Amino acid sequence: MATVQIEVPTSARERKRNLLDFADWTADEIGALFDTADVMAQVLTRTIKKVPALQGFTVGTLFFEDSTRTRLSFERAARAQSADVISFASGGSSLSKGESLKDTLRTIDQMQADLYVVRHACAGVPHQIARWTEASVVNAGDGRRSHPTQALLDAYTFRGRFPGFDGFAGKRLAIVGDVMHSRVARSNVELWRKLGGEVVLCGPPPLLPPDVAPGVARTHRLEEALEGAHAVMALRLQRERMASPLLPSATEYVARYQVTETALELAHPDALVMHPGPLNRDIEIASEVADGPRSVIEAQVAAGVPIRMAVLYTLLVGKR
Ligand code: CP
Repeated sequence: MATVQIEVPTSARERKRNLLDFADWTADEIGALFDTADVMAQVLTRTIKKVPALQGFTVGTLFFEDSTRTRLSFERAARAQSADVISFASGGSSLSKGESLKDTLRTIDQMQADLYVVRHACAGVPHQIARWTEASVVNAGDGRRSHPTQALLDAYTFRGRFPGFDGFAGKRLAIVGDVMHSRVARSNVELWRKLGGEVVLCGPPPLLPPDVAPGVARTHRLEEALEGAHAVMALRLQRERMASPLLPSATEYVARYQVTETALELAHPDALVMHPGPLNRDIEIASEVADGPRSVIEAQVAAGVPIRMAVLYTLLVGKR
């Protein structure tokens, strides 16, 4: 089986073969993705929400970890462009019979998908799969490492919803909560800075250790993080990734770090409230904020479809 060197791309075609993180993507290329997503969003307003752009292509969704938003929106994005979809979920698969990841991939590869969307609890698995297959690979979340299409849809939502948006320069995103376990935080830091914006990270010391995103502004005080922020992103506590409890009590966490209406008074007057989901109401975010006028949480989910349509189109049609 051919090997592809993801880390050292040798041609533009190889460079755009995968979306594993943003290392190989320029701000202009990301801007072009957003422009393509605008076209896709138009398609989704039509009576017939389908175009033949990816007819003849097959997209495989390989989810070794649970998902609602990412998996469904990728499948919607593929079908809206007339691609065929094959789906693998680790639950109910032959992984339970001892089949290895490589043999699982080699088995699925015989079904000749053109692109795999991969989620796995272990960092680096999408990169490894990209070395094992000729198909394109999109990272749909690998451990704590990266979730690039989530960051794309977050930035795309901000671009479309912030009043008078005139670029990311001078715009500040405050990310609050369990930063340590968050691939969404890491990908948003990578993308937001690439686009020229600023990021400040906020959380209690056990969930915001110094080695997470070195060089990025950080504070353990919610008020400091929210001061003048143009977007506030709350993150849930990822208890499933904590080997042992990292907080003395949820009550103290809520008192100090919950994004509330009162705390938001410090933010920019037009600040948007974001959350990648799934959210735990009245823990990391007050319910009234999640459902309030500043919230774009449902718009983020909706943006997932045109953004993922744009990603599939760019990778597959570029390949053709
Ligand atoms: N934001 C996100 O990745 O959600 P899912 O886990 O539901 O896909």
